[in-house]
Amino acid sequence: MTSAAQPILGIDIGGSGIKGAPVDLDSGTLTADRLRIPTPKKSTPKACADVVAQVVDAFVDQIGDGPIGIALPAPVVHGTVPMIANLHSSWVGVNAEELFSERLGRHTVLVNDADAAGLAEVYYGAAKDHPGLVIMTTLGTGIGTALIMDGVLVPNSELGHIEIDGKDAETKASANAKAIEHLSYKRWAKRLQKYYTTMERYFWPDLFVVGGGVSKCHEKFLPLLDLNTPIVPAQLLNQAGIVGAAVAAASADARP
Ligand code: BGC
Repeated sequence: MTSAAQPILGIDIGGSGIKGAPVDLDSGTLTADRLRIPTPKKSTPKACADVVAQVVDAFVDQIGDGPIGIALPAPVVHGTVPMIANLHSSWVGVNAEELFSERLGRHTVLVNDADAAGLAEVYYGAAKDHPGLVIMTTLGTGIGTALIMDGVLVPNSELGHIEIDGKDAETKASANAKAIEHLSYKRWAKRLQKYYTTMERYFWPDLFVVGGGVSKCHEKFLPLLDLNTPIVPAQLLNQAGIVGAAVAAASADARP
């Protein structure tokens, strides 16, 4: 990745809000307060692109005609969304990268939200300069994952959906599952123990990073886990998607 003097706009599209801010890639910090606009009720690609256009307009003085990065709660394979859980189903099969680039009139890079968060933590946060395999996990509405080996992202791992005891793991161990089932941290931690032990047996990583809003309360559940792999809370919290999206845009722009 090359760093740019001009900030790059990072945008994070979530189920309830679309958030964006310009990012200084030397420090991984926001150069202005982030703007948050509610996600449209009918969250089609076109409706979301209209909101993203408002965010771009708000920061155009800072970002010039540079590329922008957008984090999405879905895998993004060569610009296309093959499946989506928490936005409108009409995203499926759409080359959203092309759609956004055309709508916004500028080079736009789409990236999975957990991949974005993982890149942000590896470049600037809890996994900075950590050698070997880092697995980022975001515990939120779903479970997002990112695999990053010596700083290189292997995109679109969907390991929140691994099957454990016949169930999609995120339906049992996400922060959403904790909230829906009113689980205490102790009971939730038992599910997390099973999830992370399974991940450990498949990947033998060097580090787990735990993000998502609930990671603010990490001292209530991380100490209850008994793993071989070190497991640490994320540091960028609700900025990780924005910062990582900007990193992805800058990296893609630097490609020959
Ligand atoms: C999606 C992932 C996403 C994660 C967190 C999962 O349901 O399949 O692509 O990263 O939620 O938003």
